[in-house]
Formats: sequence, structure tokens, C-alpha cells
Amino acid sequence: MDKLRIRGGRSLEGEVRVSGAKNAALPIMCAALLTEKPLRLSNVPSLMDVRTMAKLLRQMGVAAEPPADGRMTLQAARISDPTAGYDLVKTMRASVLVLGPLLARCGQAKVSLPGGCAIGLRPVDQHVKGLQAMGATITVEHGYMHASALSADRGLRGARIVMDMVTVTGTENLMMAATLAEGTTLIENAAREPEVLDLAHCLRTMGARIEGAGSDVIRIEGVASLGGASHEVMPDRIECGTYLAATVAAGGRVRLTGTAPQTLDATLEKLAEAGAQVRVAGTAIEIESAGRPKPVSVRTAPFPGFATDMQAQFMALACIADGTAVITETIFENRFMHALEMQRLGADISIQGNSAVVRGVERLQGATVMATDLRASAGLVIAGLAAEGETLVDRIYHLDRGYEALETKLGTLGARIERLR
Ligand code: EPU
Repeated sequence: MDKLRIRGGRSLEGEVRVSGAKNAALPIMCAALLTEKPLRLSNVPSLMDVRTMAKLLRQMGVAAEPPADGRMTLQAARISDPTAGYDLVKTMRASVLVLGPLLARCGQAKVSLPGGCAIGLRPVDQHVKGLQAMGATITVEHGYMHASALSADRGLRGARIVMDMVTVTGTENLMMAATLAEGTTLIENAAREPEVLDLAHCLRTMGARIEGAGSDVIRIEGVASLGGASHEVMPDRIECGTYLAATVAAGGRVRLTGTAPQTLDATLEKLAEAGAQVRVAGTAIEIESAGRPKPVSVRTAPFPGFATDMQAQFMALACIADGTAVITETIFENRFMHALEMQRLGADISIQGNSAVVRGVERLQGATVMATDLRASAGLVIAGLAAEGETLVDRIYHLDRGYEALETKLGTLGARIERLR
């Protein structure tokens, strides 16, 4: 299994380009299931999750090759088998995003239940509840959700759906399903994440009638069919935030290009609170930081609040801050696994319920640590960059799922980081 070796203590300097967003690319790839025409995508990140999604779609008969130079064309001329098997679903929960589109297009779907997850229970009851409101029958048999629409020729019907909680992929699944349903669907308490908006942009280009995406009420007027489209995937706000946090941890001056600053308000504000100088110039973000960061407390929340996907990276900053910070996680009930690993680097963290009290120490010390999920791994890399001596991050297949060329990009900025195979 690959590891990353980081020799900490060197500041970051230079420029890197942010990749396309994983969490926008994955649902948008699933949107290809809604039409027999080609969907041409650009700015698709080259990531394990994107390759897994392409594989899953190919198993259903969709023409989908992994991206080359960020470009990818998907075409579901015919769907031969509307099934998502356990083998792939268990490796990537976003696979559940095929459920809505399959049901809308084929009137039926068989999708494995995802099972456990390192960061929380993550049930899919809201996806199911919404599709049922649209007339679907869904039963669970032998670990699979068996879903069917009203009837083969009548498909789904529009409905008013009030979500019990804000769910990103839940909103995306229902929005996709509603594009081909008969009549109007209202999704209330919808997720406002920029990735939901990006999916809506793509669906609209395909001919869908969607209003209100980006707000908490989305209105979808079903149409008889959707067509092909070309769409550029939005920049990855979490990848961008990760490099910004890394610069604060290591010190230095970095310019990130190809970003979408308007999706990063909460992160940029917190970085400024940590003492960094942040400048936005069009689609570029420049950050400069020196010395220990100021302690910054964060509380995760749905967008536009502080992203749970940035929590581990900010915990790494809190570990070396000049004071005490409180990190509160409100989205996932088990997303502090990195805290124990950070303690192995010498961090002073105590967990109280869904809060972590982090007393900053002058210096972390390199050690071997284990990545437990994607963003936890990013937090450990950041801690490693700030630590004295050598840090080995084990199980980095998590990082490969969501960060394109991480060690190359950090290497460009002067970090001493290498992959051990
Ligand atoms: N939830 C339910 N029932 C549902 C759906 C969600 O109880 O039917 C709960 C979850 O258990 C969680 C909360 O609602 O406590 C919010 O979860 P959400 O559904 O929004 O998460 P997700 O859609 O599964 C996406 C991202 C995650 C990101 C979260 C929160 C994708 C592919 N994944 O997950 O990204 O953390 O939203 O912003 O978009 C990552 O990239 O590392 C990652 C985990």
C-alpha cells in the first residue's frame, strides 16, 4: 500500500492550479443516465472516484471512458442493466446518485445499500423518502434497494418534498429524478451547496427546467426527454481550501489559480481570522502567512456555513495555533478520527461529544500516522507539513480518491513530499 513521506518544516511558495470538483463531477456524470445523447464534460479531475463512477456507469451499458486532459464524454444511448452492485457501491457512496436518474429514465433500478462509513452512519432514507413521494416503490431485499416507478410507461410524478435534513446527494438525486417526472416537483429544505448548483446548470443545458437551485427551495418542471450538452465542471472548493490551509500551516506565499472564490467565503474568512493575508483577484486566490496561526474555532454547517470537508484541515491548523480553538462537527457523528492520529504527532486535543478542544502546541513532531478517510488524510498531510522531522502517512488510497496529483502539486510549492510505493 502506498504511503506519503513528508519532511516537514519547509514553507510553501509558488502557484498551483485547482482541479475540477470531485463532488460536482460525480453527480454530473450520473446525469448522463438521463439522456441517450452524449454529455461532454471538461475540467473533470483525474481521481479514483471518477474512475470508479465511470466503471459503474459502464457496467450499465453507458459509454464512459476515464477523463483525458480533463475531458470526458459519456453516452447512455441505451441502459442495458439499471443495477449498481455492492462491489463498487461499497467503495464509493456517491454511487447512490445513480438511483434517481435510473428510476426516471428506466422506471426501475437496483442499487446496493452502501453500508457503513468511516465518518458516520450516513443513511439514505431521505433519498428513498423523496423518490417514494414521486410515486416510486422501493423495497430492500438482500442488501439491495429495488426501486420501480408507477408503471413502465408512466414513470415518476412530480411531488412536494420537504427534506428532514439538508442532504447534498439527497437533493441531487431527487433533482435529477424530477427532471423527467410528470409535473412539478418542489424540493424544500434543499442543500444549497455550489455542487448542487453546478449540477442544475448542467441539467438545464440538457433541457431540464429547474429554478431555485442554490437556494433552499428548488422547483423542477418535468420534461419528456433531455438532450446532450457540454459542461465545464466547477473548481474544487475543498481542494482549494486544503492548499490554502496547508500554506498557513507551513507558512509561505501561494497563488491558486482556476478557483471559484465565491464558493469559499466561510473558509477564506476563517483563514483571515487565523492571521493569513488573503487576496482574491478574479479566479485566483493569493495567500500569505508567517509564524504560528491564531486559534480559530469552527463549527461545521451546510453551505454557506463552514464545510465539514474542511474540518480536519482546520484541526491541523488549530494543533499548532497560538492558543486554544474549539472545533465542532455538526454534520457527521464520527468525523474526528484524525484527532487521534494528530495526537500521535504531539497535538493536544480532547474530544467532548461533537466538539474537539485543541490547545495549540509550539511544534508537532513527525511520526507514522494512518489516514482514515479522504479529508482526515488531508488534515494529516497538513499537520505533517508543519511538523518537525519525518511524517509517514499510511493508507493514502483515501487521498487518491479525491485529490488530483496531491504530492506533485505540493512538490511544486516546495514541500518535501514523496510517495513510497
Ligand atoms: N443524512 C441522513 N439521511 C439521508 C441523507 C443524509 O440522515 O438520507 C445525513 C447524513 O448522515 C449526514 C447529513 O445528513 O449526517 C448530511 O449528509 P449529506 O447527505 O449532505 O452528505 P452526502 O451527500 O452523503 C456530500 C459529499 C461529502 C460531504 C457532505 C456534506 C458528495 C459525493 N459527498 O455527502 O463529501 O462531506 O456532502 O457536505 O458530494 C468528501 O468529499 O470527502 C465527502 C465526504
